[in-house]
Amino acid sequence: MFIDTHAHLNYPDIVKNIDDVLLRASDSGVESIIVPATTYKTSIEIVELVQKHKMLYAAVGIHPTELKDFDESHLPKIEELAKESKVLAIGEIGLDYYWEPYDRELEIMVLTEQLRIAKRAGLPVILHNRKSTDDLMKIVKEEYEGGKLKGQFHSFSAGPAEAKECVEMGFYISFTGNITYKPNEGTYIAYDIVKQTSAEHLLLETDTPYLPPVPYRGKQNEPSYVKHTAAKIAELKEMSVEELGRITTENARRLYCI
Ligand code: NI
Repeated sequence: MFIDTHAHLNYPDIVKNIDDVLLRASDSGVESIIVPATTYKTSIEIVELVQKHKMLYAAVGIHPTELKDFDESHLPKIEELAKESKVLAIGEIGLDYYWEPYDRELEIMVLTEQLRIAKRAGLPVILHNRKSTDDLMKIVKEEYEGGKLKGQFHSFSAGPAEAKECVEMGFYISFTGNITYKPNEGTYIAYDIVKQTSAEHLLLETDTPYLPPVPYRGKQNEPSYVKHTAAKIAELKEMSVEELGRITTENARRLYCI
């Protein structure tokens, strides 16, 4: 069994076919799926969506590349939404210095406030990082306060040293389908991180609809494909897919209280 800890299922063309997408996911051994929001508006939509489907859970939050329509009043509203049933995390939140132009100060403020919301709510966070490793690690360590902050570094893109620090703080790490791509420099670093990280600190994810694993490159990703990413990670860990599925499912249940 698998838990897809990161699937953006709220896009209209996916919602349209949601029953088929979820059926294919169950047929592939996926038991639960976490749907992270990216704005205040999508947070509301996802809280509604997950009420309709047993296997779906929600994360509410504001993504660093989605700050165009940001308003400070959204933060207390996210904190209120976090109390709704089936909301089990604050996410997807983080920093992104890849897409220009970006407002570093604003990104840091919105991230920090949401880390504090997560701590007050007693919920884990789902973290996004793109070209922002130094600032993200610094802020997470500042807000960590000896374990009050917990969560997942999704689509892990920092190095082996940061991976070790994340694990030491009790955080979980996950990779998307891009770990199945033809090896390049970045993939080799990901391989090393998977090998050095105990399976007890790994989670599975698709990042649907992005980054589908081989053999689905060029297609729209979906939760049923998580087994291909799991197979690659299991191979690197020299364990069976079943064993990796069992351990990462336990990890996800523990972190997100599923
Ligand atoms: Ni995402």
